[in-house]
Amino acid sequence: MTSAMISSEKTAIELRNLSVTYPGGGKNNKEARAVKAVRNCSFSVARGNIVGLVGESGSGKSSALMAIPGLLPPGTLVSGQIFCDGEDISALSEEALNVWRWRRIALVPQGAMNSFTPHLSVERHITEVLTHHLGMTRREGRGYAAELLRTVGLEAEGTSSILDRYPHELSGGQKQRAALAAALACGPDFLLADEPTTALDVITQKEVLDMTAALVRERGMGLLLVTHDLPLAAGLCDILIVMKDGVVVESGPSRLLVGAPSHPYTRRLIEAIRSLEKTEETRETGGERL
Ligand SMILES: Nc1ncnc2c1ncn2[C@@H]1O[C@H](COP(=O)(O)OP(=O)(O)OP(=O)(O)O)[C@@H](O)[C@H]1O
Ligand SMILES: [Mg+2]
Repeated sequence: MTSAMISSEKTAIELRNLSVTYPGGGKNNKEARAVKAVRNCSFSVARGNIVGLVGESGSGKSSALMAIPGLLPPGTLVSGQIFCDGEDISALSEEALNVWRWRRIALVPQGAMNSFTPHLSVERHITEVLTHHLGMTRREGRGYAAELLRTVGLEAEGTSSILDRYPHELSGGQKQRAALAAALACGPDFLLADEPTTALDVITQKEVLDMTAALVRERGMGLLLVTHDLPLAAGLCDILIVMKDGVVVESGPSRLLVGAPSHPYTRRLIEAIRSLEKTEETRETGGERL
């Protein structure tokens, strides 16, 4: 990687030779065996781009994503570099990283809709981010939280009613939108979204993702979208990165990659798209939404 490339990536998150190793074995592995979840991965997410990180379960997508804001479990071994707008953030202290989190790089974690604290209202979830990271007062925070909820389309029944609700009083799609509102709260440059809609039905999933993509484009943010769903990523992302067993096996502009996959693993995934498209066609012609 040349220094010229470093300066050309001034408006991007760039991973260089990232490796992530869990020292004590896998999530469900009782043997004390190290798991090399990510191995020498290099890719970047430029502002204005939607990048899809795809691959089967266990391929290391979440590990790579969580390494960016430094949110891997304590004890995890991370090597390589992570640049954000040309600055190496991989060696920053926890305190310094906290300045980047939310304000520069915001996260919609895997299972975000289940990550709400049950006894805190939607308002509290969002205003805590605003008061903690932007120094707003609770009152200012409430006004801005209402605006954020409007931005993510949570206004149907009057924003104040959604603001005052507790997580269990929201549908899955509403929770996901609220999680997105919280992620957008500090006006980040980059959004990291880990399987943000997998628990939702197909139509709500598309609505939430289309809205996320529209907001990202409107604001010129960069989005790293982790999903095991290649058809979904192919339709939404500018660039696709395919991971398998911790390694990036292929990457490139979505259309090129889907049109002419070079790696056998990607070709197998594309086959899956074709059969899914056939199912979609049948669904569209046979069962239109009323
Ligand atoms: N906290 C952890 N401790 C130990 N091993 C872990 C931990 N988290 C993940 N792993 C292991 O690292 C590997 C990669 O996991 P990761 O969660 O990054 O995959 P993924 O591609 O996000 O999968 P999924 O699509 O199921 O979310 C797996 O073998 C997993 O068991
Ligand atoms: Mg994952």
